[in-house]
Amino acid sequence: MKPSATGAISAKADELRRKGRRVYNFSVGDIILRNHPLLIEAAQKVLHEGVSPYPPIAGLFELRTAASQWMNERYGSSYSVEQTVVTTGGKFGIYAALQVLLNPGDEVIIPAPYWVSYPEMVQLAKGKPVIVQTRWKLTPELLQKAITPKTKALILNNACNPTGALYSREELEALMQVALKAKLWIISDEVYSEIVFDGAQFISLAQFPSMQERCIIIESCSKNFAMAGWRVGFAFGPQKIIDQIIALQSHSTTSTSYMSQKVALAAVQNWKTVAEYVRESLRPRRKLFFDTLQVEAPPSAIYYFAKVDGCEEILEKTGVALVPGAAFGTPGYARFSFSATESEIREGLKAFLQKNQSA
Ligand SMILES: Cc1ncc(COP(=O)(O)O)c(C=O)c1O
Repeated sequence: MKPSATGAISAKADELRRKGRRVYNFSVGDIILRNHPLLIEAAQKVLHEGVSPYPPIAGLFELRTAASQWMNERYGSSYSVEQTVVTTGGKFGIYAALQVLLNPGDEVIIPAPYWVSYPEMVQLAKGKPVIVQTRWKLTPELLQKAITPKTKALILNNACNPTGALYSREELEALMQVALKAKLWIISDEVYSEIVFDGAQFISLAQFPSMQERCIIIESCSKNFAMAGWRVGFAFGPQKIIDQIIALQSHSTTSTSYMSQKVALAAVQNWKTVAEYVRESLRPRRKLFFDTLQVEAPPSAIYYFAKVDGCEEILEKTGVALVPGAAFGTPGYARFSFSATESEIREGLKAFLQKNQSA
């Protein structure tokens, strides 16, 4: 198993920094932002209470309730508390869903560019990743072509890391038709659902009633509420699958930290306020980033996926840390994250553009 490539670049950037080099870290998916005051208040309350019991394995009942309401309010879906589980980040939700769904040799279709961990996670569940190269979005034709009698599932990432691509309702509908006909499971990774800009609309698979029985939706507080370090995510799906994820958690993580769940509860109960606070903080960074590069901004997420080669050399020469496209299954490209501070973006892009002009 290979370690996560995003982690590897960050480690290299940290190493250069320790040696005294100025490093501009465009490689992480973390939104650099102080927690919203409501979250800080919730954390302080837990400290004040001074208790730290084991939370229920499926997550605190009030958090599962709030999370299912968050989904249902946004999408008109009807997830019950029993169809909702709190996971240790969206990452463990995807891992657990694959562990529960796959039998050895089952194929899982993964559109590339993909989030770095999907193929390894499929392999950890003894499945076979089937990578489908796209021009940033999976089409029904590409999906159809990749399906074999062994295909068990599709991992769809909307909004997409690393490209920021967003699927329209019509595009999703067309994909769902193919997937349903082939009786595929869909793991819909929607962890950037609140990070959309310029009036773009995020469409969830939860909006398609036909998907309730075939789809596991992965959500997270990491990006939507800028609280990656608290490690709280959710999975929503058919109860029999959610029950198995809960059983898996009972033998692995046990549950997500009590304090983190209390903080997540404050975020999810106030989702409109906290998500807007995060978008508000990202807007000037996004504008600065794309205005400086003079390229069109994608509608969602916190990334720019560009035709850039030689990330190691760029890091050595300019101190700009990017993630090579190979990590996402698409070599010849690199991913920039614009979630750093404005000064970091300003100075980092200056160093990057100077290098490119002098190259
Ligand atoms: C597409 C995608 N899915 C899932 C995750 C996992 O996020 P977390 O475990 O922090 O919720 C990330 C994190 O970068 C991501 O980009």
